[in-house]
Amino acid sequence: MSTALRQIQYWHACWLGELAPDEVHVYSTSLDWPDASLAWTGSWLSDTEQARARQLVDPIKRNRFSAARASLRWLLAKYLDQPPQEVVIQYEPGGKPYVPGVHFNVSHSHDRALIAITRACAVGVDVEFIDQHVPYWQVAEVAFTSQEREALSAIPVGRQRQVFYQMWTGKEALLKAYGGKLDIYLKGESSGGEVQEVPPYRILPLSLEECWAGAIALTNPPSAVNLRYGALV
Ligand SMILES: CC(C)(COP(=O)(O)OP(=O)(O)OC[C@H]1O[C@@H](n2cnc3c(N)ncnc32)[C@H](O)[C@@H]1OP(=O)(O)O)[C@@H](O)C(=O)NCCC(=O)NCCS
Repeated sequence: MSTALRQIQYWHACWLGELAPDEVHVYSTSLDWPDASLAWTGSWLSDTEQARARQLVDPIKRNRFSAARASLRWLLAKYLDQPPQEVVIQYEPGGKPYVPGVHFNVSHSHDRALIAITRACAVGVDVEFIDQHVPYWQVAEVAFTSQEREALSAIPVGRQRQVFYQMWTGKEALLKAYGGKLDIYLKGESSGGEVQEVPPYRILPLSLEECWAGAIALTNPPSAVNLRYGALV
């Protein structure tokens, strides 16, 4: 049996099953695939997606983009009960991809992607590799509100980087849940904006392996949310 076929068969076993109304399924997927798997799944991508992949000069980035889209298409196909190549991904004016019938969002960092899927409400997800060289206080000065900076400075220095990434991914996930429309709120006071009133939302940190931080955000969420994790590898 080919490597690609084995991979897809394995994915079927990894699927978390139908979504209950209060559930969010969060899948982690590795993006460094063997050529055979990329070739097998490449035809699932739309012409626009294939053109986007071709524009990426770096072969690693190109292959990771294609792998992320193929994973997304395979998952959406399972939830929508359609073949992956027939899933029509559309885009909100701010660029957020969507499909009728289920809410989803994707985030990638290095060789990993997270895909969050729910029927409950709009969702955003963000994942980041915790880079030990990023001057996180410089980023916080620009991107965090004064309350957020105060909260970060109250954390013991040895844990600040981890907490910074947790806060950052929560903000990014929220931005993505709203499709990028919460610019002023997210960028913080240093960019001259007031903290913006936003509709109800909930940010949930994700339990990921060491060196990774991630969060999902839900807009107008149900009172209880059941988060379930899956992995496509
Ligand atoms: C849209 C945005 C949020 C994506 O974030 P990112 O960290 O660059 O990238 P991620 O890997 O997390 O997400 C990319 C995916 O999000 C999705 N996406 C694209 N535009 C989106 C939008 N407007 N809203 C939600 N999701 C979006 C796509 O699926 C995309 O995957 P693709 O490139 O394979 O199509 C980013 O481009 C952006 O505008 N960031 C604003 C930065 C900022 O001000 N942050 C403040 C937080 S402190």
